[in-house]
Amino acid sequence: MHSIGIIGGTGPEGRGLATRFAIAGHKIIIGSRNEKRGLDVATELSETLNKSFPDKLNISGTNNRDTARESDIAIITVPYDAHLETLSELSPYLSDKIVIDAVVPVKFERGPRPIPVEAGSATEEAAKLLENSFVIGAFHNLSAEKLLEPNLSLDSDVLITGNSKDAKNIAINLANEIKGVRAIDAGPLRYSQFIENLTVLLIGINGRYKTETGLKISGID
Ligand SMILES: NC(=O)c1ccc[n+]([C@@H]2O[C@H](COP(=O)([O-])OP(=O)(O)OC[C@H]3O[C@@H](n4cnc5c(N)ncnc54)[C@H](OP(=O)(O)O)[C@@H]3O)[C@@H](O)[C@H]2O)c1
Repeated sequence: MHSIGIIGGTGPEGRGLATRFAIAGHKIIIGSRNEKRGLDVATELSETLNKSFPDKLNISGTNNRDTARESDIAIITVPYDAHLETLSELSPYLSDKIVIDAVVPVKFERGPRPIPVEAGSATEEAAKLLENSFVIGAFHNLSAEKLLEPNLSLDSDVLITGNSKDAKNIAINLANEIKGVRAIDAGPLRYSQFIENLTVLLIGINGRYKTETGLKISGID
């Protein structure tokens, strides 16, 4: 059982991941810039999930700093615009911890477009900012809308990048706990840009087909 803090956990992606990891039995901390907003979202999630998953839930909420401090795994779900500032502020509280970055550098200008990142990808930017953490890239291609339906099978792969084998294995085990997810070791952090950019493609397809798409790699048993 992990203590999982979600930085920017009040948005749909953070709430979706919180939902899935709470029902898997982990302790969840919803982080926000505003302590009360973190607490309110935690209360709302607990009340909603308690109907179908009684006795199992451990969800609290607070500000991002205490969330980082109190968790052993932090998941980053802020918009890319806030990535650099948020991680720089939280860096001291994330030392020696696993930090899973789910941030997609995307902007909307007549459709979704990638935001160029000097480090190569948001995940590599995180690794530069958090020198003393074990940074992993994951969950970029999972739809928040689907994550938020706790009984729905995602029927998707999660591509996981990281330079620490041990941290990556922990993230792989975590991702596999989400119903209908198969976690795939996608290699070192330098491959993160391809995974992040695939989300830009999926958002465009979602718009054209009016649906929520996912990703599956064939050829792996
Ligand atoms: N939505 C999806 O389906 C999806 C799928 C895969 C990956 N992602 C990625 O996951 C991340 C979160 O997505 P989302 O749709 O949940 O985003 P969001 O709702 O726009 O933002 C998530 C949370 O980030 C915080 N935030 C917003 N602006 C901020 C700022 N300037 N500084 C610090 N914190 C700020 C807000 O929390 P507080 O106001 O409470 O602080 C907000 O609730 C994004 O990077 C996105 O690319 C999303």
